[in-house]
Amino acid sequence: MQTTETQTAAQSVTPRDCILSPIQWRDDTLLLLDQRVLPASEVWLECRNPQDVIDAIQKMVVRGAPAIGIAAAYGAVLAYREQASKASVGASEALRTQLDTLAEARPTAVNLAWAVNEARTLMQNYAWDVLGDALLALAKRIHQDDLAANLLMGESGAEVLGQEGDTPFGVLTHCNTGSLATGGYGTALGVIRSAWSKGLIDQVYADETRPWLQGARLTAWELQKDGIPVVLNTDSAAAWLMANDRVRWVIVGADRIAANGDVANKIGTYSLAVLARHHGIRFMVVAPESTVDMSLMSGKGIEIEQRAQEELTSLAGQRIAPENVEVFNPVFDVTPAELIDVIVTDKGCIFDPDINKMQALFGHA
Ligand code: MRU
Repeated sequence: MQTTETQTAAQSVTPRDCILSPIQWRDDTLLLLDQRVLPASEVWLECRNPQDVIDAIQKMVVRGAPAIGIAAAYGAVLAYREQASKASVGASEALRTQLDTLAEARPTAVNLAWAVNEARTLMQNYAWDVLGDALLALAKRIHQDDLAANLLMGESGAEVLGQEGDTPFGVLTHCNTGSLATGGYGTALGVIRSAWSKGLIDQVYADETRPWLQGARLTAWELQKDGIPVVLNTDSAAAWLMANDRVRWVIVGADRIAANGDVANKIGTYSLAVLARHHGIRFMVVAPESTVDMSLMSGKGIEIEQRAQEELTSLAGQRIAPENVEVFNPVFDVTPAELIDVIVTDKGCIFDPDINKMQALFGHA
């Protein structure tokens, strides 16, 4: 990956203002806004080959389930071009192997495997000579479709929130589910944006989201840019916020939704769902169809990514924990469907999700 000059990412890609476009395809190169250094610096990284994309996904230059899927789709284009430039006999087989490696860059967000599968399908249907163009068209379509899905879910989710009546209320969100995590606008943050523009909510509470601080660094930044009132809180303040009637809904995204409606999302989501149920607060999950995995009967089958112990033992490069301490660092958890009031998707809303309602909307695997 190469670093290019610092530049601003703000770009108007829909009639709405303030949609960031952190993934860009320009001059045969994939440009990614480096989420590791936001909001202090806006740095773009250039990915010129599939290994660059894999590194970017693993190191969290690009993160968030839909964004990872989009980056992987462009990664497939780079993989094809790398093989095509070698013009060797086993190019097709080598591309297949590279796609397998790409799909395994991170395990939990199904959007990654889904996007790579779409690329594999094109390999079956297109001759080698035209495959490159087909893969690029696919990546652009996945990118655009995700933005369109977010705008749709924003409207649907806001409609659900609108049933609460006329008095604006506070909502709590976790991790970053905005433009940075998607093709633009956001899933949970898209609903929050739409609800804010309709005057339905008056305050967003953003969990800081330990240990990677997606909430503190990215969500707070995105909401501030939009002029949406945001209060940053520690993850452990959530129960107290709820007990003090500060929030009426918790609104989160998803990395993988199983056939029974169980939802894998950023670590801490499950705790929020338990707390919300205890306090009589409603719980909304927002995710596009590409996050749904009907091949898994329940969340028990979802692989949960464990990340490096340094994420907990150090803070801003400074060691904070004693040497040799054992570390438990799962970066996702699974919220059981029975704790979820509604899953908002681009195909429709599922209230009190269960396997029958999921299958009615998404079919069988
Ligand atoms: O580890 P991350 O930052 O990739 O995790 C992201 C999340 O958990 C998001 O909530 C999820 O991907 C939904 S983003 C629209």
